[in-house]
Amino acid sequence: MNRFSKIEALKAYKQHIEVGKLIGFVPTMGALHQGHINLMLEAKRQCDVVICSIFVNPTQFNNPQDLLKYPRTLERDLEMLSQAGVDVVFTPEVKEMYPEKDERIFHLSPLDLVMEGKFRPGHFNGVAQIVSKLFDIVEPDFAFFGEKDFQQLAIIQKLVIDYKYKVKIVPVPTVREVDGLAMSSRNLRLTEAHRDAAPLIYKTLTQSKKLFQKVSVQETEEFVMNTINKNPFLEVEYFEIVDSTSLQKLSQKSESNYPVACIAVYAGEIRLIDNIRY
Ligand code: PAJ
Repeated sequence: MNRFSKIEALKAYKQHIEVGKLIGFVPTMGALHQGHINLMLEAKRQCDVVICSIFVNPTQFNNPQDLLKYPRTLERDLEMLSQAGVDVVFTPEVKEMYPEKDERIFHLSPLDLVMEGKFRPGHFNGVAQIVSKLFDIVEPDFAFFGEKDFQQLAIIQKLVIDYKYKVKIVPVPTVREVDGLAMSSRNLRLTEAHRDAAPLIYKTLTQSKKLFQKVSVQETEEFVMNTINKNPFLEVEYFEIVDSTSLQKLSQKSESNYPVACIAVYAGEIRLIDNIRY
């Protein structure tokens, strides 16, 4: 596996890739787990050359503590990527990606105004800044994103269409622990009690999917909020049933043929997100 930390070195490597070979790209912030590895494996299945980036992007953290405490496990990450058969890993420093302040504002409305966008102001602009820079450097044919971050995936799809990137975005299903908890780098930071409580999130989402067949949007919302908030280790920040394309909140079932239920929950200081298609 090749590792580059400089943009020019990665570009020079790319010059040697045979014309016509498909380049698959998987951007990450490291602290890799099986969810990330599944993206790599999917990229390998669909492409000839797989490039992964590991970069903890400061501009997408609206909470400085979260940035400071973001887990960094580079040696282990490199080992996992090499095992997965990734061809290239790009590990730039902050100065390499942001030699000067990125002042660009991306117009992603209305997708960035709801849910994560509402509770983490500026977050998606930061994601768009880094992903656009990475697309410009890597110039992939395909880029792979997890459905775990459902809103991020929708926003990247909009970014590609509106800003005319020639990359096909491939969504990859959420990988879960045996007990249903969506894999996340943040799970490493849960205390034992919070880790024990966390599977209730997906369990409740699964139950709510059945319930939604029989009751209203509002009753489904109440069920989820009450069930999770009853657990002393969990607190729901938002739960919304939205249309999977527009991400706008439903007030009635008839408003969408493809609803998705999205949730953010605090487990102590750790914020977990998950979603389920209804
Ligand atoms: P990160 O949180 O490291 O996630 C990298 C990719 O892995 C994202 O596409 C995310 O949706 C996917 N992923 C994370 N957990 C997953 C799981 N349990 N199952 C399936 N896929 C999963 O998302 C980011 O980094 C950043 O915002 C980034 C796009 C790299 C821009 O900085």
